[in-house]
Amino acid sequence: MTNTNTILYLDGVSVSFDGFRAINNLSLVLDRGEMRAIIGPNGAGKTTMMDIITGKTRPDTGTVYFDGTHDLTRYDEADIAMLGIGRKFQKPTVFESHTVEDNIALSLKGPRTVLSTLLNRRSADDARRIDEILATIRLEERRDELACNLSHGQKQWLEIGMLLAQDPKLLLVDEPVAGMTDAETEETVRLLKDVAKRHSVIVVEHDMHFVRELGVKVTCLHEGSVLSEGSLDHVSQDPRVIEVYLGR
Ligand SMILES: Nc1ncnc2c1ncn2[C@@H]1O[C@H](COP(=O)(O)OP(=O)(O)OP(=O)(O)O)[C@@H](O)[C@H]1O
Ligand SMILES: [Mg+2]
Repeated sequence: MTNTNTILYLDGVSVSFDGFRAINNLSLVLDRGEMRAIIGPNGAGKTTMMDIITGKTRPDTGTVYFDGTHDLTRYDEADIAMLGIGRKFQKPTVFESHTVEDNIALSLKGPRTVLSTLLNRRSADDARRIDEILATIRLEERRDELACNLSHGQKQWLEIGMLLAQDPKLLLVDEPVAGMTDAETEETVRLLKDVAKRHSVIVVEHDMHFVRELGVKVTCLHEGSVLSEGSLDHVSQDPRVIEVYLGR
């Protein structure tokens, strides 16, 4: 069905809400280890596509395969998370009254009790993994800070770290730099590039400067289908993309 270099395969996917086709015959293939940027106007279906991949929304028609043989349309949200798909929503959801480090520790995959985690009884492996994640998300120096004291951008990074703690194969990130300062946005480019060294990533973003800095293949969605795909230069010179999105 899909070749071994493919982590995610969508073909002919459609879904309607009350007769409105939010996703319309959508096809998209993501390579293992690839980071892809998804752009497109409001209502294009970007978030709905993520809802379908994560099992929140079931498509009316079409196929969705993950990591070879897993037909995602047959699994529920919890199963899909277990299969190795992590999702970051736009609004950060961290444990505000816990430290940065504990937020990561509480998110680690595998059987651990909350109490043993909070009492700091960590195995050497867990401690190493936490250090590694804190380094990736640029919060090593703030590990003992309560999450509520972080900036909006740092909370976004922390939530990415909490996803990494689950060790997903594919990460879906919806508008990560919305509301960030320019400096945080720049750092998020480097952070996601680090993440993409070991994970496949789909990132939805309206910030074209950010997308340019990512330097990855871009898919522009419009009315629930792929309008244009390729390098950002290719996509941003496509007259149809200019008409429906970039020329606004
Ligand atoms: N659960 C739902 N019920 C009804 N309509 C929905 C539902 N989910 C999405 N839609 C509709 O589907 C269309 C696509 O929405 P979606 O949120 O996927 O767009 P988007 O590309 O993420 O836009 P934005 O850039 O504004 O985030 C919109 O018209 C939206 O109103
Ligand atoms: Mg959206």
